[in-house]
Amino acid sequence: MSQRQVSFQTAFIYTSLTIAIGAGFLLGAHLALPMGFNWNLPEHLPVWIQVHGHLQLVGWVGLFIVGVSLYFIPRFLKTPLPYPHLPLWILCLITTGLIVRSISEFVIAYSQPSIYSGIASITLPISALAEWTGIMLYLFLIARMHRVTDTPSQHFAMVKPFFLMMVSGFFVYESLQLAQVFFFDVTERLPWNQFSINFFIAFTLLALPIAFATRTFPLFLQLPPIRFPFQRLGIAYLLATLVMLLPEIPGLGVSENTAFVSAATVSQVVRAFLILWIVWELKLYHKMLLTTDAFLMRYFEPDYIDAWQKSVTFQRARRGYFDFGEFGRFELLIYSAFVWLSVYAVFEFTDGVSTLFSLDVSFGRDPGRHAFLLGFVTLLIMGMGLRMLPGFVQKNGVEYPKLAIWLAVLGNIAVFLRIVPIALHTTWLGSNETLLEMMLYGFGVSGLFALSALILFSVTIMTTLQRSGIKDEQMTSVLSASCECMHQHERGHRERQVEALMC
Ligand code: HEM
Repeated sequence: MSQRQVSFQTAFIYTSLTIAIGAGFLLGAHLALPMGFNWNLPEHLPVWIQVHGHLQLVGWVGLFIVGVSLYFIPRFLKTPLPYPHLPLWILCLITTGLIVRSISEFVIAYSQPSIYSGIASITLPISALAEWTGIMLYLFLIARMHRVTDTPSQHFAMVKPFFLMMVSGFFVYESLQLAQVFFFDVTERLPWNQFSINFFIAFTLLALPIAFATRTFPLFLQLPPIRFPFQRLGIAYLLATLVMLLPEIPGLGVSENTAFVSAATVSQVVRAFLILWIVWELKLYHKMLLTTDAFLMRYFEPDYIDAWQKSVTFQRARRGYFDFGEFGRFELLIYSAFVWLSVYAVFEFTDGVSTLFSLDVSFGRDPGRHAFLLGFVTLLIMGMGLRMLPGFVQKNGVEYPKLAIWLAVLGNIAVFLRIVPIALHTTWLGSNETLLEMMLYGFGVSGLFALSALILFSVTIMTTLQRSGIKDEQMTSVLSASCECMHQHERGHRERQVEALMC
């Protein structure tokens, strides 16, 4: 097994962005327009919704996660990637499977009976199997690296529950998506599809960003290292989520058992509380609410503040951050993401309390789901992408840093318009017809705002990943300028931070 670490496979990012703009978000926008403006909905609506959801979860988010983690995890576990050629096979299998599966679903729905639907009913299971194999090979690589790691770091021990949740989320979601294609028709699929989506959201899409945040936020957002027993929070979150999801398993008969359903609802409330607690322990609210200096003084050792504020880099760096603005205002996207995660937790909490005490204040599943997927996951990918991806290709900044603010503005408008009208619609506020109609028009164009944010994000990320060499000289000149006059202590501190991030 070669000792060299494999370089970053940018193809994962290009493919994820292409599927997101060309299919996932486009279908979402196409669904929202007629729903918002009360036009005719497309025929076979469940197929449109399922294909949109699957393309977004596997194509946009899934491929981004697989691409980034196949670069990050080997360095995090200090173990070179076994089988360095496997990542591109994984990319081909997942992408081909996903695209052929999506097309087959539409062909089967729209062209019964015909030679085309006949072919599609063969390509559908084959493509679903290809996609499943791609994800299983990815999980095999992750498990293999974890097994050969000599001494997992103390930090890995802290995030281990989240790591295991990430892996099991991928395994359960993909295996249930495959089983659905082989054993169920579109209608029978609905309950299993909803369960697999909720499992993927609760396990993979929450656990991985939290594990990443504990590792990267100290450097990216100048947040203090985690001093709280995070592992216990992870285990409590895991248990609450398992009990909460149990009644959703179709055919298990648990949903008829009132005691189980109450236990699941209590777990939903506890889980929502745990999510807010995790965000609190990440000190994000503190950083967002407290002024930079007050924040620094409150949470960092005084000698660090002193050394940092005396360092030359401090004068050049952005206030409250270690960078010089070369990644743009990426933090606005990260803060927005965690605000929408908190909104999701409040929706979950309210729904749970409303069920427990038979109050009629439920926001419904869809606004919470999109507060999480569009608000938290999508905005977080954009914020982390701007800050982290340039470093993966040895560059110290993005091509158009000024775009970051526009991403934050367009992205937050898209989330607000995607979830608030539906949340209002399903609650007591739905009585004001004119307000609701206006809001629903907003919902109708939410997809267009999301698409424009994605396009701007792709422009800056793709040009950054494609352009080579420019940044190196700039990086050297910037760093050498500051390094030359940087105090030994401060240089040691920043490099220790960077190094700590990678191992
Ligand atoms: C502004 C952008 C978006 C728009 C306009 C949009 C629109 C929609 C609509 C209209 C539905 C059907 C809701 C229903 O059940 O009635 C839906 C479902 C769904 N969306 Fe989105 N969406 C957007 C972004 C996203 C993102 C970013 C993700 C994931 C990363 C996502 C994942 C899903 C999933 C998983 C479902 C449920 C699919 C199913 O039930 O099989 N959506 N979306």
